[in-house]
Amino acid sequence: PTIYAITPTYSRAVQKAELTRLSNTFRLVPQFHWIVVEDSNARTELVSRFLARSGLPHTHLHVPTPRRYKRPGMPRATEQRNAALGWLRLHRSPKDSGVVFFADDDNTYSVELFDEMRSTRRVSVWPVGLVGGRRYERPLVEKGRVVGWYTGWKANRPFPIDMAGFAVNLKVVLENPRALFKRLGSKPGMQESDFLKQIAKVEDLEPKADNCTRVLVWHTRTEKVNLGNEPKHWQDSVQIEV
Ligand code: UGA
Ligand code: MN
Repeated sequence: PTIYAITPTYSRAVQKAELTRLSNTFRLVPQFHWIVVEDSNARTELVSRFLARSGLPHTHLHVPTPRRYKRPGMPRATEQRNAALGWLRLHRSPKDSGVVFFADDDNTYSVELFDEMRSTRRVSVWPVGLVGGRRYERPLVEKGRVVGWYTGWKANRPFPIDMAGFAVNLKVVLENPRALFKRLGSKPGMQESDFLKQIAKVEDLEPKADNCTRVLVWHTRTEKVNLGNEPKHWQDSVQIEV
C-alpha cells in the first residue's frame, strides 16, 4: 500500500525549515504520497517551489481556516485535513491500496514508523512521545488488543490519542464518506476522538510498534523564532526566500 501523509501547513517564519525536516524523512519512505494542504486563500509560491524541488510524489491543496476559528482554544487544521480526505474520496477508489496518516508539519517522525503503519488493516495505533504533559502517551495492550491508555491529559476522551498516533486504511476512509474532522462543538484535544469514533471501536484498534512499547513519533513543537533584529524597512534588506 501507498502511504498518504496529510500535512496541514501555514505561512510563518519557520515553515520552510519544518517542511525541509519533514521532506528529508519522507524521502526515505518507499511508496509515499504527500498531501500538503495550505491554510491559505491560494497555493503559495514558497510551498509550490518547495514541493517541486522535493521530488516527492505529492498533491498540493489549499483551504483557508475561517478567521473566526483562528484563535486560541480552537482546534487547528480541521478544514485542511477534511480537504485532503475529500481529495482522496474523489481521486482514489477501493482498488487503490493505501494507508492514511495525519502528519503535522512540526512533529518528528522515525522512518520506522512508516514500516509499522503500512500493514494497517483498518485503524492502527502506537505511542506518541512528548505529548499530553508526559514523556509519552500510549495505548495499553493485552493479548494484542488495546485495553486502556496511558495518558496524562483528559483521560476520559473516547480515544485519548494525538493526531500522530494512528493511521487509517484508505478503504475505511472510502467506506465512511461522511467521516470528517469536526469544527463546531469540537473542543481542543477532541478532534482525534471525534474523528476516530466515526470509524473505529477501541477493541478493533491494531497496536503497532511492538505492542505499543516503542516511541517512533514525537509531538515536538518549534519555538517561536525571534525576529526582533529585522531591519525596520524592508528596503534595508536583500529579500530572499527563507
Ligand atoms: C495538537 C495536535 O497534535 C494537532 O494535531 C491538533 O490539530 C492541534 O493540537 C489542535 O489543537 O487542533 P499542536 O502542536 O498544538 O498540536 O498544533 P500545531 O502543530 O500548531 O498545528 C497542527 C497542524 O495544523 C500543523 O501541521 C500546523 O502547520 C497546522 N496549522 C496550525 C494550520 O494549518 N493553521 C494554523 O493556523 C495553525
Ligand atoms: Mn504540533
